[in-house]
Amino acid sequence: MTDNGHNPYNPIPMHVVRAYFESNDHSLKTFELVFDDHKDCIEFFKNYNPGQFCQLSIFGKGEAPFGVASAAWEGEFVRFTVQKMGSFTQYIHTLKAGDSIGMRGPLGNGFPLAEWKGKNLVIIGGGCAFSTLYALTKHVHHPQNRPDFDQLIVIYGARTSGLCMYKHDIQSWYQREDMQIHQAIDVPEEDWLHHVGYVPDVVREVSPSPENAVAIVCGPPIMTKFTLPVLVELGFAPETIFTSLEKRMKCGIGKCGRCNIGPKYICKDGPVFSLAELNALPADI
Ligand SMILES: Cc1cc2nc3c(=O)[nH]c(=O)nc-3n(C[C@H](O)[C@H](O)[C@H](O)COP(=O)(O)OP(=O)(O)OC[C@H]3O[C@@H](n4cnc5c(N)ncnc54)[C@H](O)[C@@H]3O)c2cc1C
Ligand code: FES
Repeated sequence: MTDNGHNPYNPIPMHVVRAYFESNDHSLKTFELVFDDHKDCIEFFKNYNPGQFCQLSIFGKGEAPFGVASAAWEGEFVRFTVQKMGSFTQYIHTLKAGDSIGMRGPLGNGFPLAEWKGKNLVIIGGGCAFSTLYALTKHVHHPQNRPDFDQLIVIYGARTSGLCMYKHDIQSWYQREDMQIHQAIDVPEEDWLHHVGYVPDVVREVSPSPENAVAIVCGPPIMTKFTLPVLVELGFAPETIFTSLEKRMKCGIGKCGRCNIGPKYICKDGPVFSLAELNALPADI
């Protein structure tokens, strides 16, 4: 039981209010979920921080972790973007407005926003792992939160323009004077006006200054693997580089031992870690 008497293994009853494809190949679908019971909504938003995840479940079908893709100020709903991978995510993709779904969370530590106060944020994302970085950027955009941070630079790569998520919103970020947005795709396409190349190369090209900055990297393992050394090359100290780890999970609350790396549980101590913390862990990631 948690402090509020809620059994953390019991999913919160939710239902889908909006479901729409993010990508033109229909591999990425976004779901906006609302709470069946308003008390659960109040409890969720008391505890939610960008960077956290939830376990989504469907009775008889399974349960899996997904990063929260919305900021608290956006409204009384929770957004997730789900990439079709195996049987459970394929099933989630069939859900439509009105359908029921269970949710456990928010889980994990989230981004250490208090520690980042007054800093420049360099947000670097790729693929569907950009979802929690989208939530982070939306959080920073709120007029009440924006003064907490200095410069905001977002670098976001997708394999093709058709796979770019949150298109309409991100398009509007080019008009904002309080941030820089750099989008990239892997190979040239007609009508693409932004960067072409892999995320680590784009980071080198944009060359963000490490001065008073933190860098947050979330993407496929290969992208993260090659982006971290670029940041180190640019002068970012390991304590100022953060990433979010994805590992197979079961309980999501540090009880079952499914997700540990050495003494750390990804579900409870993470999923967000600094590079300094990761360097101190056994090399099984
Ligand atoms: C903290 C966290 C946050 C996540 N956030 C998101 C998100 O926002 N959106 C999203 O689409 N997915 C996210 N994932 C991954 C998601 O949980 C898996 O894709 C999902 O569990 C696959 O379930 P499945 O039954 O459809 O596929 P399975 O049949 O279980 O697997 C299909 C394929 O996906 C791979 N896979 C399964 N789980 C993972 C995992 N945890 N990490 C890497 N590869 C995996 C398998 O190796 C296999 O190749 C997140 C995972 C974690 C741990
Ligand atoms: S998933 Fe059970 S300990 Fe992390």
